[in-house]
Amino acid sequence: MAACQKLTITKPDDWHLHLRDYQFLASVLPDTAKRFARAIIMPNLKDPVTTTQLAGEYRERIISALPSELQKSFDPLMTLYLTNRTKASEIVKAAESGFVHAVKWYPAGATTNSEKGVSDIVACYDVLEAMQQTEVPLLVHGEVTDPNVDIFDREKIFIDQFLTNIIKNFPDLKVVFEHITTEQAVSLVESTSSNVGATITAHHMLMNRNALFQNGIRPHHYCLPVLKREIHRKALIKAATSGNKKFFLGTDSAPHTQLTKENACGCAGIYTAHGGIEFYAEIFDKAGVLDKLEAFSSFHGPDFYGLRRNKDKITLSRRRHKIADAFPFGDETCIPFRAGENLEWSID
Ligand code: NCD
Ligand code: ZN
Repeated sequence: MAACQKLTITKPDDWHLHLRDYQFLASVLPDTAKRFARAIIMPNLKDPVTTTQLAGEYRERIISALPSELQKSFDPLMTLYLTNRTKASEIVKAAESGFVHAVKWYPAGATTNSEKGVSDIVACYDVLEAMQQTEVPLLVHGEVTDPNVDIFDREKIFIDQFLTNIIKNFPDLKVVFEHITTEQAVSLVESTSSNVGATITAHHMLMNRNALFQNGIRPHHYCLPVLKREIHRKALIKAATSGNKKFFLGTDSAPHTQLTKENACGCAGIYTAHGGIEFYAEIFDKAGVLDKLEAFSSFHGPDFYGLRRNKDKITLSRRRHKIADAFPFGDETCIPFRAGENLEWSID
């Protein structure tokens, strides 16, 4: 059969995105808003988005930063950053707001701007109880923070130490295991009830951990959870392309300045929004299942969150283009994923 040259699908959503703020926000937002109708906006700003009030203000800044032609077509879905001090009453406010769609649990110290995250999840059980009752999903950065645990095992150990307990103690809580990177995470999600789902990034399906050390150390391939072995990459592709409704698209596009990445202590995060849907098209194409891309990118996410599916469409073409070496990022630069190299698909 001739290879498909053009693919029209329902406009996708990004269920895990970092937009940053102010001039940085303005630089990266168009990449996402051109491709996606909605995105779950991560709350890990330098001053984290811990309340419904702050989420509403951040949402306004995002909408104001949209180019005029995209003002009406992009809807930022806000999240709250869970802390040791979050109150159950804040969850009720969030649920009533209509614009807060989830709460993010960062174990304190697990990743970028997570210092104010949760040091003891058991102390947050009243908040989780309120989320279960109000049907606000819990988004989980699933890595243990114990420095004695090998960095490549942190997700696997998190499942046994934390996640299985949460799922057992809150059977009706909607839980999204974010940016899963291991076959153990895939198995956990597959074996639990329908209110447990997972996002999968493109970069974790395009690279294994060798990419961190390809002819030298590669700071632009460093993200958290860190890239894993080839068997895990294969397990992620299998899950994403399986048609299983529990798995959906979340880019985890996480821009940093070139200076903070190319540094003696470089930041974690990979910028992928410039190919937010195209990288996934490449993966599904290579797996021979382009017909499964739409459900993964445009149906499973809204179905899980209980939101309507988008009505608009986008068209992807098999048209190779070269990715820029760098993008303006505020008054600095950001090095995008696959800088200076080719992407096999383009959006029309
Ligand atoms: C993210 C960031 O930079 O905010 N970094 C990353 O490596 N993915 C945080 C996160 O999602 O862990
Ligand atoms: Zn993230």
